Amino acid sequence: MAASGRVAIWQPGFLWPALLLLLLLVMPLRGVRGARLYSEEDPLTILTSDTLKETLRNSSTAWLIQFYSSWCGHCIQYSPTWKALAGDVKDWEQAIRIGVLDCAHEKNFEICKEFGIHFYPTFRYFKAHSSSSDIGKTYRGADRELQTVRQLMVNFLQNHTRDDWPAGCPPLEPARSADILSLMGLKTDHYTAVIIEDEDSYVGREVILDLMAYDGVIVRRVLNTERTFMEKLGISSVPAAYLFRPNGTHKLMDVQKSLRFFFSSFLKLLPGVRRKQGPSALENAGGSRGQDSVEVWKEFDKSKVYMADMESGLHYLFRVELASHQTLEGEELKTFKDFVTVVAKLFPGRQSVVKLLETLLEWLVSLPLERIPYDAILDLVNNKMRISGMFLSEKLQWVGCQGSRPELRGYPCSLWTLFHTLTVQASLRPDALANTGLEEDPLAVLQTMRRYIRSFFGCRECGQHFEAMAKESLEQVKSLDEAVLWLWRKHNQVNSRLAGALSEDPHFPKTQWPTPDLCPACHEEQEGLHVWNENKVLAFLKQHYSSGNISPKYTSSNSPDMLPIQDKNAGLSSDEKPQGNQGGSLAPGGFPTRERQHGLDVPREASVNARKEPKPSMTFLVLGFSSLDMSLCVLLYAFSCVFLMLMFFFFRIRSKRWKVRYNRLYV
Ligand SMILES: Cc1cc2nc3c(=O)[nH]c(=O)nc-3n(C[C@H](O)[C@H](O)[C@H](O)COP(=O)(O)OP(=O)(O)OC[C@H]3O[C@@H](n4cnc5c(N)ncnc54)[C@H](O)[C@@H]3O)c2cc1C
Ligand SMILES: *[C@@H]1O[C@H](CO)[C@@H](O)[C@H](O)[C@H]1NC(C)=O
Ligand SMILES: *[C@@H]1O[C@H](CO)[C@@H](O)[C@H](O)[C@H]1NC(C)=O
Ligand SMILES: *[C@@H]1O[C@H](CO)[C@@H](O)[C@H](O)[C@H]1NC(C)=O
Repeated sequence: MAASGRVAIWQPGFLWPALLLLLLLVMPLRGVRGARLYSEEDPLTILTSDTLKETLRNSSTAWLIQFYSSWCGHCIQYSPTWKALAGDVKDWEQAIRIGVLDCAHEKNFEICKEFGIHFYPTFRYFKAHSSSSDIGKTYRGADRELQTVRQLMVNFLQNHTRDDWPAGCPPLEPARSADILSLMGLKTDHYTAVIIEDEDSYVGREVILDLMAYDGVIVRRVLNTERTFMEKLGISSVPAAYLFRPNGTHKLMDVQKSLRFFFSSFLKLLPGVRRKQGPSALENAGGSRGQDSVEVWKEFDKSKVYMADMESGLHYLFRVELASHQTLEGEELKTFKDFVTVVAKLFPGRQSVVKLLETLLEWLVSLPLERIPYDAILDLVNNKMRISGMFLSEKLQWVGCQGSRPELRGYPCSLWTLFHTLTVQASLRPDALANTGLEEDPLAVLQTMRRYIRSFFGCRECGQHFEAMAKESLEQVKSLDEAVLWLWRKHNQVNSRLAGALSEDPHFPKTQWPTPDLCPACHEEQEGLHVWNENKVLAFLKQHYSSGNISPKYTSSNSPDMLPIQDKNAGLSSDEKPQGNQGGSLAPGGFPTRERQHGLDVPREASVNARKEPKPSMTFLVLGFSSLDMSLCVLLYAFSCVFLMLMFFFFRIRSKRWKVRYNRLYV
C-alpha cells in the first residue's frame, strides 16, 4: 500500500527506473523456474526423491534414467536428444521406460548421493523387477547419440532372464524359420509380420517393440542366415518384411523404403490393427456400445479431404459452439469478424455456403455496432430472410472425420481439416484477402485460428496447449508457405502428445502425418532417426488440401425446398436434437470423454437455451436491414412498381376526364 502511494507521487521520469528495477528483481526468479530442462509435457517420467525408489522397486518394466543437473551445460545441450529419444520409444513403455532426475534440486541431493551419482549426466539402467537396493548399472559409452542409446536399450532388454523378463515385452530373439513357415495358409485372428535381416541389424527388434502397444499384429525377426527360408519366400535383399494375413494369405510387405519407420507405420495402419487400450478405456467402450445407434459406416479415401466434414464443422461451429455466446462484443467480436473474413475469402466451398459466408461478412462489415446479439447471426446463418442460393446444411455428416464411436473424432477433426485447408488456400491464392485488412500478413489465418481457439473452442485445455505452442514459435513464421508448415508441425506435436490418450480413436491411431503410404518422399532417415523432408511435405500439403483434392461425396443436397425456414427453434433441425441431448453428452461430435476428464467447458445449458428460446424474428430487421433483407427489398420494389402503375393509370384516367370536361367547356 505504502509503495503504491509513493509511486503515485513520483514523476513519470522516476517511474521507469523503478519498474525496471522491479523487473530485474522478478526476472531471475522466473529464470530459475524456466531453467527446468524437462516438463510434464515431455514424453518421459520426471522422478524425484519421493518417487524414485518406489518407481523402481519391482517395476514391471525396465528403466533408463538420466541423472542430470540443471546447471550443467552438457545436460542442457543434451536435453533435446533425450526428449527426442523418449518420443521415439514412447510405444515401448510396457517394456522399458525413460526417466530423468534433477540432482541440482535440493530435494534430490540426498537420493543422488545414495545412488552414487558423481558426474552429470549419468545414465543408469534398471532391470524390471529389481530390488530396492539396486542402484542400477551405469552406461559408460562415450557416444550418446540417439540411435546408440536406443540400441543399448534393446541390448539391455535382451539381457533380462526368463525370470525377470518384463511382462509386456514381446520376445526379441530370432524366430525359428520352421515356426514361421508353419503359418503358411493358416487362418488366425491376427497378422504376423516377419522382418528378415542381418544378425547385427536392429530394425527387426525395433519394429517388434514399436508394435508391442498394438493388438492384431505380431512381429518376429528371422536372420538372413536361414537361406532355405529366404529362398522359399523369394527374398533376395535384407532387411525385408513378409506379411502373413489373418485369412491365411501371405506376401512380401510392400513398403517404399526398408526403414524402421516405414515398416512400423505400414503395420500400424493395417485394417484391424489397433492400439491396445487401458482398462478404463475398455470399460468405456463396453459401456457405450450397447446403446449406440449404429450409424452406417461411410467408405472414404484417406488421401482425400471431404467437403462434408468441413461443412459439418462450420454448421457445428456457427449453430452450436458460437450459439452458446449470447452477445459478441469487443475482442470476441473482432475475432469473430476476422474468422468470418478468413473463411469467406478462403474457404473453397460450394457456392451456397460461400454465399452465406460472404453475406454474413458483408453484414458484419457494414454494421457499425459495438455488440451483436448472437441470435441475429443465427438468423442469418439459418437464412431466415430466405435469400435464394444461400445454404449451410444442418446435418452433422462426418466422413473422413468419422469415429468408431459417436464421441470420437468429429468436430475437432473437422476444425483441423478446415484450418489446414485455409492455410493452404492462403498460400495458393495470396491475393484472396485483398482489401480485408488482413492482406500482407502471412500470419492472418494462423492468428485468426489462434484467437478463435482461445475465445471459442469448447475444449479449454486444447486452447491452452495451442496458445502455448503459438506463443513459443508463431512469431518465427514469415511466409504463407511457412504458415502451412507451422500448422502441420504443431498438429503433429499434438498427435504425438495424444497418442494412446483416452480421446484417441483406436481405429484411427494418432500417427505422425502424412504416413509413408500417403507420401513416401516425405520420409527420410538420418543416423537412425526418422526425419521429414519438409520441401516434400509442403508440396504434399498443398496438393492434399487444395480444392482439387476436396471430395464432394456425402455432402447433403442444397435444394432450397429443403430449407427448414419455418424452424421455430432456429437451431438444430429436429432430427438432431435427441442426439444432442442424448445421455447428457453435449453434442454429437463433441468429446464427452474428455469433457469428463479435462473439463471441456462448452456451457451446455447456455447452448441448449440458445436453441430453445423462441427468437424475436425482428432482430435481423432492426440490425441488418440495409444490407441484408433482400427479400424485403424485392417486396418493396414490387410494391412500388405496382404503386407507380396504379398512379399512372389513375392520372391517365383523371387527365382524360379532365380533358373531356375541359373540352366540353370550350365546345
Ligand atoms: C487446435 C486444437 C487443439 C487440440 N488440442 C487437444 C488437446 O490438447 N487434447 C486433446 O485431447 N485433444 C485436443 N484436440 C483434439 C485432437 O487434436 C483431435 O482433433 C481429436 O482427438 C480427433 O482426432 P482425429 O483422430 O480425428 O485426428 P485429428 O488430429 O483431428 O486430425 C484430423 C485429420 O487431419 C489430418 N492430419 C493429421 N495430422 C496432420 C498434420 N500434422 N498436418 C496436416 N493434417 C493432418 C488427418 O487426415 C486427420 O485425419 C485439439 C484440436 C484442435 C483443433
Ligand atoms: C513383484 O511383482 C509381481 C507382479 O508384478 C509379484 O507377483 C511379485 O510378488 C512382486 N514381488 C515382490 C518382491 O514384491
Ligand atoms: C548384457 O550382459 C552382458 C553379460 O552379462 C554384459 O557384458 C553387457 O554389458 C550387458 N549389456 C547391457 C546393455 O546391459
Ligand atoms: C485375404 O485378405 C486380403 C486382404 O486383406 C485380400 O486381398 C485377399 O483377397 C484375401 N484372400 C482370401 C483368400 O480371402
